[in-house]
Amino acid sequence: MSDYLQVVGEKHQKRFGQFFTPDAVASFMADWVLDSEANTVFDPAFGLGAFRAALDDLADVQFTGCEVDATIVEFWERDTGERADFVAIEDYLLSWGGQYANIVCNPPYMRFQKFLNRDVVIRGFKKNLGIKLSGYMNTASAFLLKSLSELSERGRLAYIMPLEFLNAGYGTLVKQKLVESGHLCSIISFDCEKDIFPDATTSVGIILYDRAVYHTDVQFFRLQSIDELTAFESLQPVAEVPRSALDPQAKWLPHFQGTAFSVDHQKTTTLAHFGKFSRGIATGANAFFVLNSTNVSTRCLSTTEYVPCIAKSSQIRTAVFRDADFADNPVFLFSVSGNLSKAAADYIRFGESEGYHERFLTKNRTPWYKTEARSPSPLLFGVFSRDGYKVVLNKTKALNLTCYHGFQPNLLGAAYVEYLFLYFSSQTGRQIVARSMRQYGRALDKFEPNDLNDALVPTAAFFDTIPKEKVAEAIHSLEANGELPEWMEAVFAPLKCE
Ligand SMILES: C[S@@+](CC[C@H](N)C(=O)[O-])C[C@H]1O[C@@H](n2cnc3c(N)ncnc32)[C@H](O)[C@@H]1O
Repeated sequence: MSDYLQVVGEKHQKRFGQFFTPDAVASFMADWVLDSEANTVFDPAFGLGAFRAALDDLADVQFTGCEVDATIVEFWERDTGERADFVAIEDYLLSWGGQYANIVCNPPYMRFQKFLNRDVVIRGFKKNLGIKLSGYMNTASAFLLKSLSELSERGRLAYIMPLEFLNAGYGTLVKQKLVESGHLCSIISFDCEKDIFPDATTSVGIILYDRAVYHTDVQFFRLQSIDELTAFESLQPVAEVPRSALDPQAKWLPHFQGTAFSVDHQKTTTLAHFGKFSRGIATGANAFFVLNSTNVSTRCLSTTEYVPCIAKSSQIRTAVFRDADFADNPVFLFSVSGNLSKAAADYIRFGESEGYHERFLTKNRTPWYKTEARSPSPLLFGVFSRDGYKVVLNKTKALNLTCYHGFQPNLLGAAYVEYLFLYFSSQTGRQIVARSMRQYGRALDKFEPNDLNDALVPTAAFFDTIPKEKVAEAIHSLEANGELPEWMEAVFAPLKCE
């Protein structure tokens, strides 16, 4: 395999989405599909034949495949000394009309936007399956949809692929197709995604689907290592979710957390009800726009030409960010409007001499040195976080750059900022909000503003049951001890029903 990558180079590999299934995973998947009644296997993305190599007894099994890249198949022929006449050299997404007893696949993973034949593929899905593919779809999900439609009556399907579709909007259709007929058995998520695909940036897992069986529950497994697959039959799922509770529009990744609870919809609403999170200010050149106290004084900038800002996540170390915390290490955003002082004009000329006006964002702005006008956000969310999110009650006038998403309350929300802060800080809030987050890999969660805006939070009526003085007391206690008092945790607990 490493020989192959040396011969074709990284560009070719990326162009076709070529990465290879480890032997142990390929064996598990091939064995699993062959537990059906039929002894045929079809692989729509043959590559270097990981699944064929995994078949113990080739004489007993009829293997066929599809592969769009003739180069990789020629390499396989040279390498093995065999002829690949059982592999059709064609684009799987464009070849319609197949029916297969068992399908096993590690599909190419590419954003659909970058996919050359995208429009023809979209037309093909419409014509053959009556499905309108979303432009946000990726090739792996399109492969899965097509294979599901081609699986024969009592056949089995095993797909290894990124699991991001379980939480993403474009994934609704895929989840619907998986769950509607009751044949989805299990989804396995790997905590060790880098052992499977070293370049993986998202969670990776295996979908197991069996048309011979009707399942009332879907099992969610979470594995720490590939070795666990050898004893898969004896593993306990982290959750067994009734098919009726698997809403294709909901996010499914939280099922791997084993947090089998539902949210009391009478007591909750979406955060959008109270206001909106958006990205922080993108300067396009922090080295120029972000100044410390020495910079502003040596440059003699007027006090109207810079504003306090939060440029790095590590600048905030407390749950409540106050003026005194800001003053420990003050940082400012160069922010001018109208007439410029001589000092500001000099600084801009300095920026141009350093080429800051030629950066991607700055050159698309007029004038290049004017950043977006924003108001300070009273609630901040860290964009990346490990082990849960970072939420901050911002009591300063500092503007957040892109390291934090900032909340702008609407008229209603302005009265509930502190309540929302307490909720986001609580264990219950963290569990409920985590459901809205798209997971990128095991340890690293990246929060998108829209995921936050869709997150469930208590209704205003629920918040109104908490006395104002209790809110102040809980914030004080959180600042002093780093956690909410038990009595405040207890207030939010009824939002969850086990
Ligand atoms: C992720 S690799 C998997 C290879 C192999 N089956 C394995 O598991 O190691 C996906 C393979 O699909 C091929 N491929 C990419 N786009 C394709 C398409 N539209 N139709 C068929 N094969 C495609 C790539 O060239 C690549 O060899």
